[in-house]
Amino acid sequence: MIHVFKAAKQANKPTFLLLHGTGGTEKDLLPLANMIDPDAAVLSVRGNVSEHGMPRFFKRLAEGVFDEEDLIFRTGELRDFLDEAAEKYGFDRDQIIAVGYSNGANIAASLLYHFSDSLKGAILHHPMVPRRHIELAKQQGTPVFITAGDNDPICPRSEAIELEQMLRDAGAEPSIHWESNGHSLTHTEVQAAAEWYRKHF
Ligand code: MLT
Repeated sequence: MIHVFKAAKQANKPTFLLLHGTGGTEKDLLPLANMIDPDAAVLSVRGNVSEHGMPRFFKRLAEGVFDEEDLIFRTGELRDFLDEAAEKYGFDRDQIIAVGYSNGANIAASLLYHFSDSLKGAILHHPMVPRRHIELAKQQGTPVFITAGDNDPICPRSEAIELEQMLRDAGAEPSIHWESNGHSLTHTEVQAAAEWYRKHF
């Protein structure tokens, strides 16, 4: 997968897995990593799917309607890529914290839904419920920080609440930060994520 890797500036720091929104690139979220922990390693990935030239992490059938088969395939592909990248760059595979926005948050949530050992933690900005009617992989206390907009037309309030509940039922420790905003990624929610990170890692 196309990506950027930056080594940690200090030993024992986690690696941020940065996952952009639809139409983004691996460069988009680099400033977030810097705001959350400038000393952590960064693995920022570009989605392998192109929707009319816009990079995404998995196909969709319509706005908000996911192509489940592709989602499952791409989730496995990303997980394999994490294994390979950890070996290639020599970072600790068990210390990966996803930071995703929108479509990127959705594939990060999908990693948590499908694999117990994929992520150490996750910051999900404006996510949706990636899948329903499946048994989720067990998460033993995985900390997850969800940020959501009260008036988000793409990732509705109800989905953030449902996602939080499903992750909690799977054993994760999720919490939601609300913004009185729509779908845009704001400075205040990234600051809230940084505060949450300092408490948990
Ligand atoms: C998705 O397709 O993942 C969501 O609708 C968010 C987005 O627009 O990318």
